Amino acid sequence: MTILRIYRSDKNYDIHRLDIKPETKLLTLFEQIRTKIDSTFAFSSECRHGICGSCAVKVNGIPVLACKTEIGSFRSGVLRIEPLNSASPKIDLLSDFEPFFQSFSRFPDFAEPGHGENTRPIPSDAVRCTQCGICFYSCPSIEFDDGFAGPAAIVKAERFLSDPTDRLTRSRLEAATENVYQCVKCFRCEEYCPRGLKPEHSIEAVRRRCLTLPEDSLGTVHTKALFDSIFHYGKINEVFAARYIFGFRGSLPLILSGLPFLFKRRVRIRPVFSKNIREIRKLLEDE
Ligand code: SF4
Ligand code: SF4
Ligand code: FES
Repeated sequence: MTILRIYRSDKNYDIHRLDIKPETKLLTLFEQIRTKIDSTFAFSSECRHGICGSCAVKVNGIPVLACKTEIGSFRSGVLRIEPLNSASPKIDLLSDFEPFFQSFSRFPDFAEPGHGENTRPIPSDAVRCTQCGICFYSCPSIEFDDGFAGPAAIVKAERFLSDPTDRLTRSRLEAATENVYQCVKCFRCEEYCPRGLKPEHSIEAVRRRCLTLPEDSLGTVHTKALFDSIFHYGKINEVFAARYIFGFRGSLPLILSGLPFLFKRRVRIRPVFSKNIREIRKLLEDE
């Protein structure tokens, strides 16, 4: 017996207790529920073959494609099924994808051809991405900072950045400096991507390209701040880095937002030096 708790509108959950064969796909189950139990149950699907990405839902908090996922693949006999964007679902399992599609507008989403021959291969991840939204809606950085474009948009930006005939490289990189540093390298996007793509690797590649911008650009200043912080303290000192990047006035709001952590003794006012500071400095000097 499998117990299903399926999200319906207005934060209500329908509960079904069903005998289901373990090899039954989630999408087949949704269709059976709509045909035999509740004709008003709403969900989305198109290709049924893991290509379009429209059937993505969360099961016990893990994002999956319903058409590719078998009921028996979950250890628990209780499945909590929710829309991918559980923060603002539209109706039943249909998600509001507006924030995800908007994220692509942070970068010019077209190439402006200039002169020259396109000799570099275009990264295959950008071509294989189905824009299912799974990486976007499982990224913790987006949860805390809705200014972050997120992994899929940066994967697409990398596709254009690898095109030597494109004339918008500079503006793409400038937009990237506003985004690539919000990634905290948790690798959830890579863990859950149903196409097996590596968005974090794309972000890293774009981050490196940002260093080709002039010295006073945000990306270069950011990298120098982290380098100097590690050189001085042997570790990243957030207060030092924030002052370096944003100046004293600019960093005040950030410092104020960190006050609760100070009271909880999660951060210290006095800088903490690494015990291995000498070795760390030597390593950096040898670089
Ligand atoms: S990178 Fe993967 S998870 Fe993200 S939108 Fe593309 S296919 Fe989906
Ligand atoms: S690795 Fe970066 S982009 Fe990917 S989910 Fe984590 S924070 Fe988001
Ligand atoms: S229906 Fe297209 S990916 Fe599932």
